Amino acid sequence: MIELGNRVIMVTGASSGIGRECAIQCSRVGASVALVGRDVGRLEETRSRMSGARHCVVRQELTAFGELGGMVGRVVEELGPVSGLVHSAGSQMTRSLGRMEAEGYAEMFSIHAVAGFELARWICRGENRAAGRVSVVLVASMMGLVGRPGLTAYAASKGAVIAGARAMAVEMAGKGVTVNSVSPGMVMTPLMEGYLAGLTEEQAAERRAQYPLGPGQPEDVAQACVFLLSDAARWITGTNLVMDGGCSAG
Ligand SMILES: NC(=O)c1ccc[n+]([C@@H]2O[C@H](COP(=O)([O-])OP(=O)(O)OC[C@H]3O[C@@H](n4cnc5c(N)ncnc54)[C@H](OP(=O)(O)O)[C@@H]3O)[C@@H](O)[C@H]2O)c1
Repeated sequence: MIELGNRVIMVTGASSGIGRECAIQCSRVGASVALVGRDVGRLEETRSRMSGARHCVVRQELTAFGELGGMVGRVVEELGPVSGLVHSAGSQMTRSLGRMEAEGYAEMFSIHAVAGFELARWICRGENRAAGRVSVVLVASMMGLVGRPGLTAYAASKGAVIAGARAMAVEMAGKGVTVNSVSPGMVMTPLMEGYLAGLTEEQAAERRAQYPLGPGQPEDVAQACVFLLSDAARWITGTNLVMDGGCSAG
């Protein structure tokens, strides 16, 4: 039985796509959710689709690292100590190596890797953390494992998420914290639609054809995240779960 009753879960990227669906699915199995993102209107829209009433909306630019401790503290005041994190906030960058500049790498690493690691640090700290097991799920990407043209910065930052989660898992195992990453392939969200819009029709069709089960939906990833947050996954840590509709199996 997968349930998150009486647990407070922080979900970043909750205003759209995978994060939005994670928040909704967490609420359906009993969690109180802190919905973190920048667009309050879309965060409220997510909240309106959730079960239960004990949730809060948090407007936060996640690369403002100096503000994250205070933000976690406010969530704890409102909902209570935190026992789980899904870090799904992220953005896309397709840029050939020749057009890439250092700022682009910094942007990708900041939101995908550093923000996730910092949030994990803050929720595991003293009075912020709930008694019992704390579970951290970082949304990486299949691009952290394979390459595609124009994705050097994005792919490298997702590789960093996978490696960082693994190291954190080993460090935190004795402290009752599990840390895992998930690596989705093509999932139909605004981010993916943006990426596909930059390709020719032929290239986009070619990408889709690489998925024996077809492209994924946000709920496909969200269900795996809920499982990793739950006690059903208490013995799983340091894992990177590839979810790609069979793409990498072929
Ligand atoms: N879709 C795919 O095919 C796919 C595949 C593999 C991995 N992923 C990963 O899955 C995660 C979610 O992607 P998605 O497809 O759900 O994207 P999405 O629909 O574009 O949603 C991205 C979310 O991230 C938030 N966000 C972005 N930058 C932020 C920042 N600096 N501070 C705070 N919030 C920020 C956005 O918040 P606001 O809109 O409120 O600003 C939004 O809620 C990303 O890490 C992405 O790399 C996606």
